[in-house]
Amino acid sequence: MSARPTRPPPGRVGPGTRRLMDLLGWALAGLLGGAAAAAAGAFTLGPAGATLAALLLLLLVLLQRPLRRFCPPERVGYVPEAGWSRAQTAHRVRRSRRKGQMPPVYPNGWFRLLDSAQLARGEVRGVAALGEQFAVFRDLDGKVHVVDAYCPHLGANLAVGGRVVDSCIECPFHGWQFHGESGKCFKIPYAEKVPEFAKIKVWPSCEAGGMIIVWYHCDSIEPTWCVPEQEELRSCQWVLRGTTEHFVNAHIQEIPENAADVAHLSFLHGPSLMSGVDLRFTRSAFWTFFQHHWQWHPEPEPNTHCSQMLVKHKVMLCGRHFPLLDLTVSARQVGPGLVFLLLKHPFLGRGVIVQSVTPLEPLLQHVVHRVYYQHNIPAFIPKFILWAESVQIERDIMIWNNKQYLSKPLLVKEDAAIQRHRRWYSQFYSKNSVTFQRHRETLEW
Ligand code: FES
Ligand SMILES: [Fe+2]
Repeated sequence: MSARPTRPPPGRVGPGTRRLMDLLGWALAGLLGGAAAAAAGAFTLGPAGATLAALLLLLLVLLQRPLRRFCPPERVGYVPEAGWSRAQTAHRVRRSRRKGQMPPVYPNGWFRLLDSAQLARGEVRGVAALGEQFAVFRDLDGKVHVVDAYCPHLGANLAVGGRVVDSCIECPFHGWQFHGESGKCFKIPYAEKVPEFAKIKVWPSCEAGGMIIVWYHCDSIEPTWCVPEQEELRSCQWVLRGTTEHFVNAHIQEIPENAADVAHLSFLHGPSLMSGVDLRFTRSAFWTFFQHHWQWHPEPEPNTHCSQMLVKHKVMLCGRHFPLLDLTVSARQVGPGLVFLLLKHPFLGRGVIVQSVTPLEPLLQHVVHRVYYQHNIPAFIPKFILWAESVQIERDIMIWNNKQYLSKPLLVKEDAAIQRHRRWYSQFYSKNSVTFQRHRETLEW
């Protein structure tokens, strides 16, 4: 006769539940550490306690995990027309909007292609951006190389089936191998001799701020400045606490120009975060309790490719100012596509949000924000800051996705910084920079 499993009497727990409770006690001990560990170990949990502990544990794990928000192109920034999907509306707005007289579409400078963590040793990935096709690979010593994706032999795409061999990339079609540093062909498996002229284009690249960055110049001029390294990132004092990705349908210059547009700050970003990102509903007096003080200026020699923005956020409630909640952000724009926003708060700690803007197409920008923060500050604080940043940028996206770039805007005296910003940003274009018209002509055949 087989023994039937017995139910524990009411109020008692079975061995399985007991094991689960022990496990939870142990996990809590591990998470809380020290004195709390002893308390948690000694503490005998009942069923209600076990459930509570499980929920607490789950909450702690969720709060510690880095924030991840990925917004595909149509998700935000469009007002869907009745009976239309967001994608259909976005498509229609993109086709029908007035393009106007735009600056060139691909400025010269450093642009993010990937996050460093997205490329393991021996891995190759393709990225289409700036009107180019890049093959990005990490050699077996860990160094990143960016080369033109098309093999000069017969045009196969090195990023599709290509293989990393030591410091070279091997083409998937006939096995030619190109050196990542010099671009020189190193081996042709079936040829007696490798011709001297067998070479692939190599793009200057570097890794900084957790990103793989490429130097783009329409005249193939070598880098004229470097991307600064944040010391706290290099020394791992600040750790990654979140990433957000957005796609913006606008000219690249619209995004950095925001920094010099002082007047939009209180109007667009003043309403509290709780009022959301849909501009049809954000403007309610009830939610307005932020005040902003904003300054923008270009940096002098030798950093004329940089500009600075200083923002002081003041929190007001019922007409009263709460200084402890004030936040000061100093943002440094480095070239046309990178921004480092330094965050500093008396008791919420220090960190940086790294913003990158990469043109995937003339009017499609990939915008990535990554927050790094002091590792000894609870992760939910930088996660909240990044979430707040993402709410604010989604309001901007609703403007950018639907606006026209005006080469001769109607400005008042108080808008003077916008013109100064345009003059400053024009240094990233040169005579041969690709224009929207030229880009379109090369695609029409
Ligand atoms: S196409 Fe690349 S080796 Fe032939
Ligand atoms: Fe803005």
